[in-house]
Amino acid sequence: MDRIEMILTQMSLEEKIALCSGRSFWETKTYEKYGIPSLFMCDGPHGLRKQENAADMMGVNASRPATCFPAEVTTAASWDPDLLERIGVAVAEEAKEQQVGLVLGPGANLKRNPLCGRNFEYFSEDPFLAGKLAAGFIRGAEGRGVATSLKHFAVNSQEFCRFNSDSILDERTLRELYLTAFEIAVREGKPSTVMCAYPKLNGTHCSDHGQLLTGILRKEWGFDGMVITDWGAMNDRIEGFRAGCDLNMPGGSGYMEKDVLKAVKSGVLPESAVDTSARRVLKLVLQAAERQKKLCACDYGAHHTLAREAAEAGAVLLKNEDGVLPLDATAKVAVVGAMARQMRYQGAGSSHINPLRLSQPLEALPGAIYAPGCDDRGETTETLLLEAANAARGADTAVVFAGLPGHLESEGFDRADMRMPQGHIRMIEAVAQANPNTVVVLLCGCAVECPWADRVKAILYMGLPGQAGGEAVADLLYGRADPGGRLAESWPFVYGDVPSSEIYDKTKDALYEEGIYVGYRFYDKAGVPVRWPFGFGLSYTSFAYSDLTIGGDTVCVTVKNTGARAGSEVVQMYIAPPSGGLHRPVRELKNFRKVFLQPGESETVTFALDERDFALWQDGWRVPGGHYTVHIGGLSAVIEKAGAELVPPAWQAGSWYETCAGKPCQKEWETMLGRRYVPQTPRKGSFTMDNTVEEMKDTSLVMRLFHGAVEHTIARSFGGKKDRENPEFRMLMASSVGSPLRSMQISGGMKDGLMQGLLEMANGHYLRGILRMIKGE
Ligand code: BGC
Repeated sequence: MDRIEMILTQMSLEEKIALCSGRSFWETKTYEKYGIPSLFMCDGPHGLRKQENAADMMGVNASRPATCFPAEVTTAASWDPDLLERIGVAVAEEAKEQQVGLVLGPGANLKRNPLCGRNFEYFSEDPFLAGKLAAGFIRGAEGRGVATSLKHFAVNSQEFCRFNSDSILDERTLRELYLTAFEIAVREGKPSTVMCAYPKLNGTHCSDHGQLLTGILRKEWGFDGMVITDWGAMNDRIEGFRAGCDLNMPGGSGYMEKDVLKAVKSGVLPESAVDTSARRVLKLVLQAAERQKKLCACDYGAHHTLAREAAEAGAVLLKNEDGVLPLDATAKVAVVGAMARQMRYQGAGSSHINPLRLSQPLEALPGAIYAPGCDDRGETTETLLLEAANAARGADTAVVFAGLPGHLESEGFDRADMRMPQGHIRMIEAVAQANPNTVVVLLCGCAVECPWADRVKAILYMGLPGQAGGEAVADLLYGRADPGGRLAESWPFVYGDVPSSEIYDKTKDALYEEGIYVGYRFYDKAGVPVRWPFGFGLSYTSFAYSDLTIGGDTVCVTVKNTGARAGSEVVQMYIAPPSGGLHRPVRELKNFRKVFLQPGESETVTFALDERDFALWQDGWRVPGGHYTVHIGGLSAVIEKAGAELVPPAWQAGSWYETCAGKPCQKEWETMLGRRYVPQTPRKGSFTMDNTVEEMKDTSLVMRLFHGAVEHTIARSFGGKKDRENPEFRMLMASSVGSPLRSMQISGGMKDGLMQGLLEMANGHYLRGILRMIKGE
């Protein structure tokens, strides 16, 4: 019998149940008598957030300094899984040094809509790209001996009501878009853990979702690791065990454990379900302890250099008229914008890192004339604008730093619109009017509307470039580095062009009415022009493609650097389906490769084709037969596939899904879904632990008072001010009164009985409520 089985036979049922939930915010439980050590875990995806004192899941309290790599929005634009692998290695080295055995990342959720407050932490609107990049990070970290957690599984593409909304979508959309990134990352990256998401998926909480956590993840994809909840995401512990949800974090879920004990004792839940999860937890913690013994070097200087390389590799040159970039070394340069002095380099929330070093653009651009042009919140005045215009007028080139200040973009809430602050727009316009050679450096974690784009000569999109962002910007502006990024998401002209713009965040539940038509899959088919398309990005050099051939299952193409500088190109292979049949996108990304070429150098890139490249989901992956066109860099070639004749469903003819003209409508979507959507409105008398204080406060005085007390307590850490504009304040409110009572209980470490008592009172049963509080159950 191996060690794990031996330990399991010695442990009591109570101990096994308890092992499957955390000891503290960041640790699993230890049992010295069985030799079970604790495992320390922390966020996150682009650097470590190890909190040693006050812990929280929103990145508000201090954490140990660590290298802050660029956020996923930037590393995604590198289109370079090898780079992600190197970042994974570096993060793991820091984790080992800080005795962290499990890093909570990467995030592989799809960027469904540009307003998602957490888009900066996700890779792409395309699942293939997102999956490959996530797999790269996982390979790197796991290869260096640190466990990872692929999150948030699954369909968690909005922050609005994230704790208890229901993501409703049809099976095809689920499979072709929202699960594909996870599938690739699981199969190719082999993460030790997968983190289940907060929302429900088609009516069932992800933590309780047997089909998701066992049927698909383990049985179909062969995942053999542990499933962990997002912090406070566990809905029903009994269902969780049944579904294969192994570790409940962060702990503090006493009432759930009591329920499980009763359920096992009464035969409702087989003990084997608890054993299975306990076995997986044991495997992970014992393995992590072994891995931790193997020390490795941690060179923070090298990690800073890697962070700089990553920021350059993910910088997207969106526009460069008259070759205004790179700047001439002797040119007189004016730098404008508060963000040049205090750049936005990472997002807010659980991924927030306390950076080891920080290079600001202005420091890296010595000799430039500087004018702030606006304040830190992006607001401006006539005087600031005048100063900025004067500085610009006296220079050969003006470089304006603009984008989204931190309070507009964060985990915990979605953006209200796609606009930049008015002050930034006015600042750009004032500078552009004063100097025809105006360059804009954009710092933000997601696509924004750029109504000013035609008025400037060049635009360099840095995303959120991490701690070495300042040096990276300077290298790029002066041509010491080539902007290596290509967009990992489409940039529409205006928010109204986004297919989900009329439904996103409009209801508590997320209705995925646009189906598979997200991002370029929609814009291509609808013929809606975008400001910059998916995959777009310029370089300081130029590339030419030739000799696209298909032989059997292999595609070859040659790419040549035809310019005068070294640079990188992303070779992107799209496949277009035969016309007719089941509705499909015009083309889909099926492979890519990043190549680095010296002037005059060329490289032949080879892609292997497999069945999945041609498949769609209809009760399984199936390939419709016909002529497919492979597109790479303006060239195309046709390949014939033998395959099934798939009959389109009757509803397809004349529906939105056939043309993508206008916006999707609920009725057609319901037909596609095969059922009607009926919103569940929580009502007094039938509130449950799944309801939030926010939802109950209008009909319950107790909840109103409780809401006020929580707000007051949170406000105390903001100098007594209810600062509803402050992202941290908003996040804390959302993750307390905006989260279900069960999550408040777990994440807030509340005493058993408190939430249950409040719930009774909210339902009108005052006496029962008081009794439950007193009895603590
Ligand atoms: C976030 C996770 C994070 C966890 C722990 C949650 O609120 O959704 O991504 O890993 O907190 O900080």
